[in-house]
Amino acid sequence: MRDLPLDGRRIVLGVSGSIAAYKAAEIVSRLVQGGAEVHVVLTSHAREFIGAATFRGLTGNPVLTDVFDEPYDGRMAHISLAQGADLFLVAPATANLLAKMANGIADDVLTTMLLATDAPVIAAPAMNTVMFDHPATVANLSTLRQRGVEIVEPAEGRLACGSDGKGRLADPDAIVAAVHARIRRSCDLTGLRFLISAGAGSEPIDPVRLITNRSSGRMGVALARAAARRGGAVVLVAGHRSVEPPPGVEVVRFDTTASYRAACLERFPACDVFIGAAAPADFTPVTVSQTKIRRDSSGADLMIPLRSNPDVIAELAAQKDSRLVVGFAAESEDLRTRALEKLRAKGLDLIVANDITAEDAGFDVPTNRVVLVWPDGRHEDLPLMTKDELAHQILDRILGMTGLASRTPSPA
Ligand SMILES: Cc1cc2nc3c(=O)[nH]c(=O)nc-3n(C[C@H](O)[C@H](O)[C@H](O)COP(=O)(O)O)c2cc1C
Repeated sequence: MRDLPLDGRRIVLGVSGSIAAYKAAEIVSRLVQGGAEVHVVLTSHAREFIGAATFRGLTGNPVLTDVFDEPYDGRMAHISLAQGADLFLVAPATANLLAKMANGIADDVLTTMLLATDAPVIAAPAMNTVMFDHPATVANLSTLRQRGVEIVEPAEGRLACGSDGKGRLADPDAIVAAVHARIRRSCDLTGLRFLISAGAGSEPIDPVRLITNRSSGRMGVALARAAARRGGAVVLVAGHRSVEPPPGVEVVRFDTTASYRAACLERFPACDVFIGAAAPADFTPVTVSQTKIRRDSSGADLMIPLRSNPDVIAELAAQKDSRLVVGFAAESEDLRTRALEKLRAKGLDLIVANDITAEDAGFDVPTNRVVLVWPDGRHEDLPLMTKDELAHQILDRILGMTGLASRTPSPA
């Protein structure tokens, strides 16, 4: 039997109340022909335009129209389908639906599922030009893009309401191509072994006090999640206080730089790509007090001598052979120059530099704006985006550097 590009992939298609809803039937048909298992969810307004029977017939699956629909015994269909999806497509997406998505409203089965899914989401808007250009819609689309939702831009032309302009649902070809591209991304790292580090290190001063830093681990965890989703085998070396690790990755915890170094050195020989997004401590107290250091009754200052910790990523890069070693640079000035100096001093293959003085980038925020710098001085400025989307962008570049990018099958 021929391998189909979407074989075994579960795609949930949400259809909302646009006059273009009938085009969803063509999209479903193409996805099913590509081998996908498609589940359709209709808003109540969508049902004014096209019936559930059409989609039941095309997909062979029950169609969800209400949050209380229970076509699969006792499994809370809206949750189990949302969570088991490889991809969530909304086509057509009305202005109303985009507004609800942007604001996390869950007042029907489709919007509830969109909140319950952690699958990648693609939305294809369709609406009258004035609605599309309305500042509310523009802001909602911007919010969704920043959150990692991929928007398939509507086309220009004659609209159903009689006016001309932008707002017509993108061609089903373009929507199906976006699905193929996203699904391809979901397995393009198969066979690559990643060692990724995340979060803050800490060094004890005494039994109760620590030296640590503000790294939350979000960026490293986003990289681990994205690499695992795309088929990579991932070991995550995570600081004890970093954000929750994603499912499907092996987690090794660290606290001191000594434990970080030991974990990385042990796992490094079995990886193809090391991404050092952790912030292990650069310094450690020369001696650790075995008892709690008491405050001096005279109010005298406490001096704690610190010594430098080993530079773990430089040590790994020195023994990398054919492996790729990718580092991060958090800088507050001369971003590109400092990042290039750091990359060259440590012998890295790529460095991801971010300006820690920007409020929307860097530590403990869900977004980041970075510059990628390569050893030959080439650089690429990426716009502000979520750490999840940035993780995919970084992995795209790494895949290109491995030379394996071309091995992925092209869409049928
Ligand atoms: C004939 C007709 C066509 C419509 N076409 C669109 C459309 O293309 N895009 C859109 O955003 N709204 C359109 N609407 C308005 C939506 O149906 C309306 O905003 C509704 O509340 C959307 O609900 P839903 O997002 O839950 O499906 C249309 C309404 C009618 C009556």
